[in-house]
Amino acid sequence: HDVVDLIRAKRDGAALPADAVAWLIDAYTHGRVADEQMSAYLMAVVWRGMASDELDHWTSAMIASGERLDLSGLTRPTVDKHSTGGVGDKVSLVLAPLVAACGAAVPQLSGRGLGHTGGTLDKMEAIPGWRADLDPDTMRAVLADVGAVICAAGPGLAPADRRLYALRDVTGTVESIPLIASSIMSKKIAEGTSALVLDVKVGTGAFMTSLADARELARTMVGLGTRAGVRTEALLTAMDTPLGRTAGNGPEVTEAVETLRGAGPPDLVEVTVALARVMLDIVGLSGGSGARPDPAEVLASGAAYDVWRAMVAAQGGDPDAPLPSAAFTRTVPAPADGYLSRLDARALGIAAWRLGAGRARKEDPVSAAAGLRWHATVGEQVQAGAPLIELYSDDEATFPRALAALADAVSVTDEPPAPTPLVLDHIR
Ligand code: URA
Repeated sequence: HDVVDLIRAKRDGAALPADAVAWLIDAYTHGRVADEQMSAYLMAVVWRGMASDELDHWTSAMIASGERLDLSGLTRPTVDKHSTGGVGDKVSLVLAPLVAACGAAVPQLSGRGLGHTGGTLDKMEAIPGWRADLDPDTMRAVLADVGAVICAAGPGLAPADRRLYALRDVTGTVESIPLIASSIMSKKIAEGTSALVLDVKVGTGAFMTSLADARELARTMVGLGTRAGVRTEALLTAMDTPLGRTAGNGPEVTEAVETLRGAGPPDLVEVTVALARVMLDIVGLSGGSGARPDPAEVLASGAAYDVWRAMVAAQGGDPDAPLPSAAFTRTVPAPADGYLSRLDARALGIAAWRLGAGRARKEDPVSAAAGLRWHATVGEQVQAGAPLIELYSDDEATFPRALAALADAVSVTDEPPAPTPLVLDHIR
């Protein structure tokens, strides 16, 4: 194959056959296709899209660029969850131990955050001593012993995606449904899970701000997973308002632990339990027959908290250690008396990021203590001048820009806003 011919073909709207796609991914991964050539190809995909077969070939080639983990030796069925990323989205921290406590094995290979949505590994790393990097044998051992493992995807897993994602990040080619779907699904299929539930976020704080785009992304990923032999379903969930009451790494761990101990905020509990039910359903462990407890009951019982403690300890973390606390705080008061009708997820995500919870470049460090805690969420009453949002930072110089991000983040109305659903759709 000649790469320039392939770029021209994609530019003109052709769907590439399997052998051409496999050659292109392999040649790029091994440095025989240059970054500028792949950039041109990716931009053509942004404009022209990919046919369904072509996307299957592309994803298979990304998986074939590395190793595929074998989790078939476990006695429990494996099921993972992936979120497309939201603000205050600490669901994974609660969900993995919860689903394990209900009898499944959850192999959660996760990533770090970039931009205004946080990454699960950054959150877990707020726990003193906790290590994200496990070799495949250790990962399998923790999964077998504890029932859940949250760790970094090793360098051997879909290495083509690492190079492609870094390139897309600097060439304006992240925003493409086939490229996003293949990037996410290549990693999840290579991880070896037998089943997968996708939490596709919709709203101001999410990758996908429209329901139609989110639905198309969800359908594309469900199709890819299913055709690759991984039972895959998706929930579309609302992300106009951040989940729970905290954003930032340490603050979100604290809230996840509160939730695992039975005192979580209702929205976080609702999304977590909805995802847990789908995960248990697709591996045949759902309640209903009366033989198996419902995840809501398991969460309230403290059984998931026991799994959390074992999971943290298995990776060197001390579940009882105090989390780092911030040197500096600021408070944003409620602007008026009334009902909170808007708490903008994107604005809060950007504020937490500017306080030090997130990174601008992938090599930047993140702060464990930085972030936000808000005292009310949408639908609740507030009083003019009473503290509404608490800001935490290790560096006082971060406050002006974080406060600027929050300048138009909140609306207060005289009447309570109409309640809106959190789970918007179920794609299977
Ligand atoms: N997350 C990924 O892993 N890849 C994308 O392309 C977008 C989000």
